[in-house]
Amino acid sequence: MSQLDTTAESEPFWEKGNLAPVHEEVTAFDLPVEGAIPPELNGLYARNGANPREGHSGHWFLGDGMLHGVSLKDGRAEWYRNRWVRTPRFNGAPRKPGMPDIRSGVANTNVMAHAGKIMALVESALPVVMNRELETIGSYDYDGKLDTPFTAHPKICPTTGELHFFGYGFQPPFLTYHAADANGTLLRSVPVPTRAPTMVHDFAMTSQHVIFMDLPVVFDMPAAQRGTMPFAWSDSYGARLGILKRGAGIESLRWVEIEPCYVFHVANAFEESDGTIVIDVAWYNELWRGGPSSKTFDKAVLRRWRIAPGAARAQEQTLDDRSIEFPRVNDDRAGMRHDIVYTVDAGDENLATSSYSSLRKYDLKTGQSTQHTFDKGMASEFVHVPGAGGKGEDDGWLIGFVYDRARGASDLMILDAQRMGAKPVARIMLPARVPQGFHGNWMPGV
Ligand SMILES: [Fe+2]
Repeated sequence: MSQLDTTAESEPFWEKGNLAPVHEEVTAFDLPVEGAIPPELNGLYARNGANPREGHSGHWFLGDGMLHGVSLKDGRAEWYRNRWVRTPRFNGAPRKPGMPDIRSGVANTNVMAHAGKIMALVESALPVVMNRELETIGSYDYDGKLDTPFTAHPKICPTTGELHFFGYGFQPPFLTYHAADANGTLLRSVPVPTRAPTMVHDFAMTSQHVIFMDLPVVFDMPAAQRGTMPFAWSDSYGARLGILKRGAGIESLRWVEIEPCYVFHVANAFEESDGTIVIDVAWYNELWRGGPSSKTFDKAVLRRWRIAPGAARAQEQTLDDRSIEFPRVNDDRAGMRHDIVYTVDAGDENLATSSYSSLRKYDLKTGQSTQHTFDKGMASEFVHVPGAGGKGEDDGWLIGFVYDRARGASDLMILDAQRMGAKPVARIMLPARVPQGFHGNWMPGV
């Protein structure tokens, strides 16, 4: 079992406490469970995160990727594994000067399945295909058709099974939108030129459109030369949303102004009957003024953009002023109207400093929110898994890792999404610590 690193002041926040990396790959079978795992949950929950092999990295977002996975079968926790994503960089390939190499970088941000492939994702490189035992197969370029990086936040359309995604980089057009069909064949790539290279972590999808965020966190050469995240806040760049019709060419692109801000994560987006586009996001007032140092995260709040047909500017509304991150919805509603958003509650803190002791569920129809608190536990992102035969948006389970400080190891927790105040229906005790990490997904039947 890995021990927590020390908390010397000189260490960056991502090398302290439960953000610190683990140093061993662990395999364990038939894990102990408190409560009862819903027998309908058959599949793999996997989650990615930065876990630098050497124990150190120049920025939280730059460490080697490590997957943590738990296989559930017939009410049992069949196994837990954690494995590094063995990219060429992990295996010692030198970093080449100049532009990032999309075939060699770390893959540390998300993991998802589409068209029979489990893919570890980072926004600066191609997807890396993994097997269900979390061993690395290799980078994937869609049979030679994909020549840009691949976002860590692709969207699967629940109606068509299509995968919508984009890549961004430092050369014009800076951003390219891609779509693959349900079988994983790349259908189209559409350049979406922005005015400068900006950091584009996520995007939004509705049933009719995809929406890109061109925000004022702009390529910064001094940061690039320091080997850290090469972006910084700009007071002059402005902020826009680029709305593109799904399946159409660049001629359908329309830009809409918003207040300068930064958004890592979109909860979901949908269209109302009159064509108004609604987007819910975890919203930062600003990010990385002066560069991506460890002390420049503000808190994020749940905010809504509404874009009326033909409008030049979005209407904006902060839905709650509490600090949250990692917003998720029922993925069966992706691109369609949602009323429920599940988040990790950061208390009054921010991404770097929070103890993440609770989850918060927003019901946007009633304006109410409910909380689940983990006593002495530290929660990572939780995903919603629709219940078998469930018809309501909220029917189903919330699944995620919680670090148990008392045990010095982590649990996979399963909550009933409709009973936030109740104790977890199952607590699966892992033999190791799972660092806070970034994003994961439930992969049914995998
Ligand atoms: Fe993310």
